[in-house]
Amino acid sequence: MELITLILLVILNWGLASAKTCTNMTIPVKISARNGIFGDSIPQIGIEVTDFALDSTRQGHNYSQEILQGYKSVAGTYSLSLTHCNPDSGESKVLQILTHGIGFDKSYWDLPFKNYNYSYVSVAVDQYGYSTLAWDRLGIGASSHGDPLAEIQAPLEQAALAALTAQVRGRGRGRTKVVHVGHSFGSILSYALARDDPSASDGLVLQAWAMNGTFFPDFTFGANMIPVTDLTPAYPAGYFAAGNAAALHTTFLAPGQYDPDIVPYAYANGEPVSIGELLTVGGAGGGTSNFAGPVMVVTGDRDLIFCGGDCYATGDPALHTIMDTSKNFFPKAKNVNVTAAPGAGHALNLQYGHGVVYQQMNDFLVKNGLGAK
Ligand SMILES: *[C@@H]1O[C@H](CO)[C@@H](O)[C@H](O)[C@H]1NC(C)=O
Ligand SMILES: *[C@@H]1O[C@H](CO)[C@@H](O)[C@H](O)[C@H]1NC(C)=O
Ligand SMILES: *[C@@H]1O[C@H](CO)[C@@H](O)[C@H](O)[C@H]1NC(C)=O
Ligand SMILES: *[C@@H]1O[C@H](CO)[C@@H](O)[C@H](O)[C@H]1NC(C)=O
Ligand SMILES: *[C@@H]1O[C@H](CO)[C@@H](O)[C@H](O)[C@H]1NC(C)=O
Repeated sequence: MELITLILLVILNWGLASAKTCTNMTIPVKISARNGIFGDSIPQIGIEVTDFALDSTRQGHNYSQEILQGYKSVAGTYSLSLTHCNPDSGESKVLQILTHGIGFDKSYWDLPFKNYNYSYVSVAVDQYGYSTLAWDRLGIGASSHGDPLAEIQAPLEQAALAALTAQVRGRGRGRTKVVHVGHSFGSILSYALARDDPSASDGLVLQAWAMNGTFFPDFTFGANMIPVTDLTPAYPAGYFAAGNAAALHTTFLAPGQYDPDIVPYAYANGEPVSIGELLTVGGAGGGTSNFAGPVMVVTGDRDLIFCGGDCYATGDPALHTIMDTSKNFFPKAKNVNVTAAPGAGHALNLQYGHGVVYQQMNDFLVKNGLGAK
């Protein structure tokens, strides 16, 4: 055999050995949830969206509470858009369900930017041997959109995550372990899932999260929200987009931590938030969890949304970071690991530290009995 052929074969084999296999699919879920009924009309134009931001962020007020008129059971069949990836050895015994946050879709976990250099999925699948299932949250991306006020609220999205998890567990006939990995609002939903049904998950990795809503108005203001209908006909009025690239930068990135090209990239590929999500995000993730598995919290120490830009400024000498209160909310967890990513802002997967963070996330699972190999 000629040397060149041999080298080619070796390269090809190596390529195959490290290449994940991904499948896109859409599945129906039949779900119901107790959503809030809010006495607010849907903002249609820019000035109404700005007024909503001003109304919903006043200190000393709980706007959601003030306009809450009651609760209503919302039920229906919705479609969810998924990307399922396996290592070349086939379906792993541990599956990670990946739930993105506000401003993104499931591509947050497998960013095409710079030839997939920032891909979380590549690390989890190719290096650690996990299978992954990333979904567009209900209401976002290629999943069903809906009434942005009455339907697309945290409780119904949590029901969608629960239904997705149940389907996956059914297919695995109990053999598959399922870990929930979230970013931001995706972490809130993952937290809520395991709080309401501790047996639904075997492990939690909550990225860009803390049990602290104090700084949420920084997000609402920083995002400089505009009607998404100003940008695209893909969503109805009542979904809001970041006003410009600077707004995305403000809420998601920290100085010195990002490739300048990622700012316009993330803006061009951004996804909106629904008014119903903004009204329910605060109430969704509270309460104490009886979850008994391992929990990792990993948040950039300059996170704007959960730490106001400095996670170490706790005002309490007994509290190292704002995330450290997490331990109080998981009294039964096997291990609660709190990691502060140095210098990083909210969107960890978009910043230079992503490689270290991905390793910490997966190493944590491996060390806590949830390794794939
Ligand atoms: C899955 O969908 C994404 C986004 O639309 C696309 O970039 C990717 O190529 C698709 N993957 C497969 C295996 O079809
Ligand atoms: C991504 O880019 C960094 C910096 O240029 C480089 O060190 C790293 O090897 C790249 N990773 C991948 C998976 O391409
Ligand atoms: C605001 O009110 C909602 C609805 O009653 C509740 O779920 C939420 O926890 C409250 N938020 C705060 C910060 O008290
Ligand atoms: C959130 O963090 C701020 C700043 O450290 C602190 O003042 C506040 O008490 C925290 N809130 C909760 C609920 O822990
Ligand atoms: C948290 O987990 C990471 C990954 O396993 C590890 O490097 C780090 O030391 C842990 N932190 C603590 C405080 O145990």
